Amino acid sequence: MAEIGKDIDKAARLLAAGELVAIPTETVYGLAGNALDEQAVLRIFKTKNRPEFDPLIVHLGDKGQLDDYVHEIPEELERLADRFWPGPLTLLLPKKAVISDLVTSGLDTVGVRIPRHPLTRGLLQHLDFPLAAPSANPFGYISPTRASHVQDQLGQQIPYILDGGVCDVGLESTIVGMEQGQVIVYRLGGISVSDLEQTVGKVLILPQSSSNPKSPGMLKSHYAPKKPVILGELDGLMDTYRQKGIVFAVLSFTRTFSELPGSLQLALSPSGDYDEAAKNLFSSMRLLDASEAELILAEELPEIHLGKAINDRLRRAAAK
Ligand code: TXA
Ligand code: MG
Repeated sequence: MAEIGKDIDKAARLLAAGELVAIPTETVYGLAGNALDEQAVLRIFKTKNRPEFDPLIVHLGDKGQLDDYVHEIPEELERLADRFWPGPLTLLLPKKAVISDLVTSGLDTVGVRIPRHPLTRGLLQHLDFPLAAPSANPFGYISPTRASHVQDQLGQQIPYILDGGVCDVGLESTIVGMEQGQVIVYRLGGISVSDLEQTVGKVLILPQSSSNPKSPGMLKSHYAPKKPVILGELDGLMDTYRQKGIVFAVLSFTRTFSELPGSLQLALSPSGDYDEAAKNLFSSMRLLDASEAELILAEELPEIHLGKAINDRLRRAAAK
C-alpha cells in the first residue's frame, strides 16, 4: 500500500527520483510525475492503464514559468489565466520542444494549469520541473476526490499519496483553447461556462464526445462507475425498476425518498447548491457503486452554474 501523509519534502524527493506521487488539487487528485522525464511520463500511462493517445495536463507553480514551456498565449486566454489561476482551468497552448510528444500524444498544444490547492502549490514551488498529472484513477473509472479513493485503486502501484483532504471543487478542470480567434471549451469542468463568458464573451462548447479529434481522450464512457447508471426522471424510473424487482440506488440533486433505505440513496445537495453538488458528485457515485444495488438511477440538474458540467459527467457515466 502507498504511504499517506502531508510531507512535501518527501513527495518532492520521490518525484525528483522519477517516482510517481498522488497529489491533491482543488478539482480531483492527480497521479503526478516529472513532466520533463519521459520515463516518469510513461510510468503514468502504465499505472493508470491509459492509452498513450490521451494527452496529459502539465501543472505549474506560477504563471512566470509559462514562458519556459509554451509559445505565445492569445490575449483572451491570458485574461482567463489572470482571472482563474490558480484554479480549475486548463489552457491549451502551443508547446515548446521541452515538452515531450509523449505528454501531448503528438499534439502541438499542451494543456497547462496552475492548481490552487495549498499543499500542491507548495510542492510545485519547491520543484524545478513541472508535474504531468492525469486524474489518479484507473482509466475509465470515476476520478478520486480523497486520498482513500486513490489508495483503494492505485495504492499498490505508487509509493506515496500527498493527503490534502477532500477536494474542494470535486470536478476536473475546465479545458479551454482557441481556434481561429474563437474561444473553445473542450471539457466542461470546475469553472462554469457563465463565469468564462463574463471574462471573454461568448464561447463555443465542443460536443463532449469521443469524436472530438482535438481531445482524443475524452471518450464518452469516462467517469463511469462499474454499475449501470440510468439517467432520467426519478419517480418514473423508480416505478419501472420496482416493478421489475431490481434493487436500485438513487442519486438525486436535492430530494430524499422515505420509501428507500438510506444506504441506497444520496442527495448531492439537499439545499440545491451547485458547488456542493459538484463537490459530492464523484464520492457519491463511488458510495452507490459499492452499495448492494444492481444499478444507479440518477437525474440531471438544471443546466446553470456547475449543473452543465455535472450533467456532462452523469451522461458519460450513463453512456457506458
Ligand atoms: O482537474 C484536472 O484537470 C485534473 C487534475 C489532476 O489537474 N486532471 C485531469 O487530467 O483531469 P486527465 O488526464 O484525467 O484529463 C485530462 C484531459 C484528457 O481528457 C485529455 O484528452 C485532455 O485533458 N487533454 C490534455 N491535453 C490536451 C491537449 N493538448 N489537447 C486536447 N486535449 C487535451
Ligand atoms: Mg481523468
